[in-house]
Amino acid sequence: VKKLKIGLLGLGTVGSGVPLILTSHKEKIAQVTGADIEIGKVLVYNEEEKKRQAEIYPHLELTTDFQEILDDKEIEVVVELIGKIEPAKTYISQALKSGKHVVTANKDLLATHGRELSTIAQEQQVDLYFEASVAGGIPILRTLANSLAADNIEKVLGIVNGTTNYMLTKMLEDGISYEVALKNAQELGFAESDPTNDVDGIDAAYKMIILTNFAFGMFIDFDDVSIRGIRSITMEDVEIATRLGYEIKLIGTSEKVNDSVTVEVAPMLVSTQHPIHAVKNEMNAVFINSSGLGESMYYGPGAGAKPTATAVVSDIITIAKNIRLGITGSRFNSYKLEKKLAEDNL
Ligand code: HSE
Repeated sequence: VKKLKIGLLGLGTVGSGVPLILTSHKEKIAQVTGADIEIGKVLVYNEEEKKRQAEIYPHLELTTDFQEILDDKEIEVVVELIGKIEPAKTYISQALKSGKHVVTANKDLLATHGRELSTIAQEQQVDLYFEASVAGGIPILRTLANSLAADNIEKVLGIVNGTTNYMLTKMLEDGISYEVALKNAQELGFAESDPTNDVDGIDAAYKMIILTNFAFGMFIDFDDVSIRGIRSITMEDVEIATRLGYEIKLIGTSEKVNDSVTVEVAPMLVSTQHPIHAVKNEMNAVFINSSGLGESMYYGPGAGAKPTATAVVSDIITIAKNIRLGITGSRFNSYKLEKKLAEDNL
């Protein structure tokens, strides 16, 4: 059995899920991949973290120097799970330019620099996959690109931020305040390290930008998205909405009207009759209107180590298969950003 070595960047919530899934699902992964996926090296922030992680992961080779991963010829895939723009952008660019395939869950980076990174991947004929960047474990990008390839998408509605959905659910069901709900979401590990992006709708906007690309083939700039978060939502708002037969949810909308797309993130009143109303706590869902399939909804955990790492490892498996078939960077990997039509092609 062939070995596929990966270089893992980051051992945070999602990063720590990768060795977990690789170990606990080892046999299944080897079966479907035809290869043993091995973690070659892991990048950690500093010596202090290295010491701490070495005790938890004595079998992993830890480094604080990305160059070691870049120079390691045996590492074919770089898995970036450190998040934010820099140094992630530099690491991914360097990895792609040195001919390594990349898997990332970095929505901030893909929403703002996805086009540039995809172009590099295409030029280098390497793979760039990022299923985990939108709605965590829900396989929504694959679905849009592959399963709905024949369909004409009209509208995408998403609850794509688990933190805010959790907060709004708890404020409604348990009557706890905004502050306490946020603190709980942080403790449970759904929130970003700085939860500003969660509560201000920015995290959801990043995910809607990526979804828009897969749904409509358009690259939307961050400034083109109308964004309102949940900071101003009070207990009173939540109660009034309930009395009227609605529930307040932070909804991302991407809709195609003629040849243009409108993308918005805002707290909205959702009727108790709408299927998305049933999406509670940290769960995510994407509801799609399309002319072929009609209405469809994709539901699941949008955050957390195991669900998100499952999507990450599945991307690694896809790359392993592509390598075996000799089709990396080819048209067959149609759910990557660069394979979609840009505005001028529509
Ligand atoms: N902070 C994000 C959320 C994590 O709450 O959905 C997953 O992207």
